[in-house]
Formats: sequence, structure tokens, C-alpha cells
Amino acid sequence: MKWLREALSETKSKNLFRQPVCIESSQGPRISINGKTFLNFSSNDYLNLSQHPDIVKAAMAGLKKYGFGSGASRLLSGTYDSHRQLERNIASFKKTESALVFNTGYAANTGIIDALAGKNWVVFSDELNHASIIDGARLSGADVKIYRHRDIKHLESLLNKSIKSRKTGGGLIVTDTVFSMDGDIAPLKDLVSLGEKFNALLMIDDAHATGVIGKTGRGGLEHFGIKSKEIIQMGTLSKAAGCFGGFVAGNSELIDLLINRARSFIYSTSLPPAVAAASIRAIKILDSGLDYRRKKLWKNRERMYQGLKEIGFDTLDSETPIIPVMVGETKEALRIGSHLYNNKIFAPAIRPPTVSEGKCRIRFTVTAGHTYKDIDMALEAMKEIR
Ligand SMILES: Cc1ncc(COP(=O)(O)O)c(C=O)c1O
Repeated sequence: MKWLREALSETKSKNLFRQPVCIESSQGPRISINGKTFLNFSSNDYLNLSQHPDIVKAAMAGLKKYGFGSGASRLLSGTYDSHRQLERNIASFKKTESALVFNTGYAANTGIIDALAGKNWVVFSDELNHASIIDGARLSGADVKIYRHRDIKHLESLLNKSIKSRKTGGGLIVTDTVFSMDGDIAPLKDLVSLGEKFNALLMIDDAHATGVIGKTGRGGLEHFGIKSKEIIQMGTLSKAAGCFGGFVAGNSELIDLLINRARSFIYSTSLPPAVAAASIRAIKILDSGLDYRRKKLWKNRERMYQGLKEIGFDTLDSETPIIPVMVGETKEALRIGSHLYNNKIFAPAIRPPTVSEGKCRIRFTVTAGHTYKDIDMALEAMKEIR
């Protein structure tokens, strides 16, 4: 207990203590906190599908048919027809042979990387990859080489050194497609070329890309016009799809191997079948194009991005609806976060360990459901603290 108290007080003394804020309404551009309405610029529900009536209806029909809990893990009695259908629909949406659903995107990343990479493998990971990729690489026991953010030359030099000296095992290059805290996009074409040159697998995390980038929202490969069938495409249903659960799409052999080896898939009770039923509907909606909502999302993104730039903020190389405003130290991030909160704008400070020290920020995410007036209110509040 003494150790716990000390650890907590150390966290507090560094301004790094965090507590979840409780929301009393549904998710959306406006949320209710402590009985008050806030503009929400902290959601990954990019297309506002979490409230889509057809998805809610599908979830309710699923509840009526299956009840709630799934009762077992996928390899026991926990695979339902809704899981199977969802996997077929994801494969068709991502244009792959097959797909596999995990309970979360976090479980997908830890499960996939651990299942593929063994002790004599080398995992090459972008320094800003999501925590679930970092944890998957750690779990795998592989030699992990971190390359500088989006730095192809650095990656190539690491591949050169490691692959030449490698006796057995393989190489796995892994990257977020859209980086979750910086909002920039990985150079996937160059990564594909390096993977081919060094005979290394490439895995992309399309968590913030699915439904958001690519002409019809299919994610990173569509965005860059990449056709390769060898790429492992991980994603999540919890962001633009407005549902819950993770997935991987790829060829059938990959999926068969993961079913037999991915520990987070094998040793965990499966997603409630009604949740999978809701996701089937969400993927169908994404597959239909959703042009209007996606256009609105990108227009909103432009307004927020240009507005922040005009005020003079550093927004790094953001290219997507994730727009960081760099503020530096924790105290300053907390000050700006509180100022926004006092103006009924929810966009909390992002601090270590989510980002590295000195790189604290306010991370704005815009969605299709925001109005220009909402965005202008956030910009007005940001102007006041400049
Ligand atoms: C890049 C990235 N990968 C994976 C995940 C994990 O997905 P999930 O929230 O479904 O666990 C997230 C988000 O939390 C993410 O931002």
C-alpha cells in the first residue's frame, strides 16, 4: 500500500494523474457531462455511425435473437453466425480472401504480432506506433527495431543491418496507417517496396483509416492505390464504424494461422453476437460509400485545420481529422484543456505516457456531425489562450 501511495503521489506531482470523465449522454458532437452540454472534439466516431438508426436496430434485433453474453471463446461454443457473416463482410469490404474478428483492436494487434513473430524474428516498428503494436511486439519476444517516425531511410538501414545478420526467422514491418496522436499518414508505398526488397511481411494498422481515408473509405491501401494481397490489414470497428471489436483482413492462410496461434483470439470469451450483428450493418453502410458524411468530415477537418493554422498553432504534419495542437509541457496542456472545458469544449490534454515528454498537446478530432458553428466556437476559445 505504501508503494501504491508513493506511485500515485509521484504521478500527481508530475501533473500526469488522469481520471476518466463520465459522459451521461450518447456519443456524438455534443455530449453531456455533469448535467451540462459540451462540444465533443475528442471522439473517434468520425462518421457518427454510433447513433445510426440502422445499426442500433441491428443491435436490438441481435439482442432479441441471441440474448447478450456469448458464453464461450471462439474455439469453444462462442462462434456465432453473426461473427462468421461479419468476417465475410469485412473481407469483402477490404477486398481480401478472408478476415478474423477479435474482441478489440488492442487484442488484434497484440494477438497478431505475437502469433507471427517468434524469438528469432525482427519486428520493425515506427516510433509513434500505437501502444497495442508496441505491446504485441514485446509479447512476441522478437528483436524489436524502432525506426524514426515515417523515416524510410532509417528503416532501410535497420533492415539492411538486421536482415543480413539474421540466421533464421522472418522480418515484420508494422505501422499505424493514420497515426493516432499526430494525424499524419504512413508512407505505405515505400513500406511495401522495402518489404518486397527485404522479404519482410508488412502489417498496417488501419484503426483511424478505415471509413476515413481512401476514395470509398476502405483505408490505407485504397488511399495509396496499393493492390498487394500480401499485406496484413488490421483495423477496428470501434472508430469510424461506430461499433466495437477489432479485426484483421488478409489471405486465408494468415487467418487460419491466427485462429490457431493468436492467444488473444483463442483465450478470451468472444464478442457478444449482437455486437457482431450491429457491426455487420455498419460495414454494409461503410461499403455503400457514405459519400455525403465523408465529404462533410473532410470539410470540417479543413475548417478546423486552417483555423488553427491561422491562429498560429503548430499542428505537426496532420493530414486527417486528427489535428494535434502542440503545447509542450504538461502544465500548459492542462491549462489549455481546462480553458476549453470551462468554455464547454471537450478536448482534454494529451500527456505522457501517451505522447513523449515535452510533446504534450490538445488533440482535436472532428467528425461529420460537427457544424461550422461548433468548429468556430472551438477556434474562438483557442484564440483566447493564444
Ligand atoms: C492506431 C490504433 N490501433 C489500435 C487501437 C485499438 O483499438 P480498440 O480501441 O478497438 O482496442 C487504437 C485505439 O484505441 C488505435 O488508435
